[in-house]
Amino acid sequence: MAKTIFRKELEKLNAYVPGKPIEDVMREYGLTSVVKLASNENPLGPSPKAVAAVQAEAAKINIYPDPAVRTLREKLAEKYGVSFDQVMVGNGGESLIQLVAQSIISPGDEVITADPSFSLYEISVSHMGGTVHVVPLLKDSFQYDLESMLSLVNDKTKIVYICNPNNPTGTILGKAALNEFADKLPEEVVLFLDEAYYEFASAVSEDYPNGLEILARRPNTIVLRTFAKVAGIAGTRVGYIFSTPEMIAEIGKSTGVFSVNRLAQVAALAALDDTDHIENSVALNKASLQAFKDYFDTKGLRYIEPGGNFIWVDVNVDTRELYVALQKEGVIVRPGFLWGWDSWLRISSGNMQDTEICIEALDKLL
Ligand SMILES: Cc1ncc(COP(=O)(O)O)c(C=O)c1O
Repeated sequence: MAKTIFRKELEKLNAYVPGKPIEDVMREYGLTSVVKLASNENPLGPSPKAVAAVQAEAAKINIYPDPAVRTLREKLAEKYGVSFDQVMVGNGGESLIQLVAQSIISPGDEVITADPSFSLYEISVSHMGGTVHVVPLLKDSFQYDLESMLSLVNDKTKIVYICNPNNPTGTILGKAALNEFADKLPEEVVLFLDEAYYEFASAVSEDYPNGLEILARRPNTIVLRTFAKVAGIAGTRVGYIFSTPEMIAEIGKSTGVFSVNRLAQVAALAALDDTDHIENSVALNKASLQAFKDYFDTKGLRYIEPGGNFIWVDVNVDTRELYVALQKEGVIVRPGFLWGWDSWLRISSGNMQDTEICIEALDKLL
């Protein structure tokens, strides 16, 4: 048999499917304007302070960035009340998810995640030869089945992933349930709390837990956040994790040397201070999701109360076809069939005009 060049794990690896780019849909259907509500981006646009910082920094891109990302880490540490060595910044949250799996998972190790949830956990762990146990969310509430997840923990379990709010369902796992789960999980198992939508979730629910409180009493915890969502700088790629200094040091060993570029570092620094932009982003998100909820209510469509900047709705038709039909109307969403939930759609919040366009297209087709 011919020797294979690649890791054997790649043979079965299902690559991540990103939201379809606007340019592709324009080209395929000959459209001049397309609304994309498929990647949970910020419809308000980037923080203006971040844009100004990038412009000012542009003349320096002949110089490598600070490999330690010191200023941004110091500022994040100060803002969130942790020490500098408890923070690591990466080229988007996705790179940190991969890096954590690369640092922790060896072939034969096991992790536990949920279905449907963010598929990058599964992809990253499978890539390293780990075994992924996928526990379906509870049927009616779409909440995590924490009991079943705990029952799967064994000596080989390395990481349990909790996406809160969960992508694609938007469900928030509340304080009491998460705290109890964190306390029951054996202390040597890493609890990975993905809080990519932290700012949106904490604005809609007082019961939304702050992963940093769990980290403070349970060392083997990693909390992930990102500048891609509320800060509106997804295009620059900046995400960060909090954990113990020991964990950050170990994970940091295998990161790229200059993995957070110069423009990304200054953009994130500026966005962190832009409270007006954060507040306006949260307010626009609420208004857009409310418009979607009102429409779904009038149509009698079931949706899950959204904790992030997207909404998960059962449209009662096969989304393979609806997804294409919506594109012909100039609207890109994320179809549930990608997660095996054929009649559900995940729709990102938009500005009010794009929200209206999406609702009108849905109304025409449903
Ligand atoms: C739950 C979740 N985690 C992590 C990420 C990755 O974020 P980033 O854009 O910073 O890579 C996303 C992006 O959509 C996400 O939805």
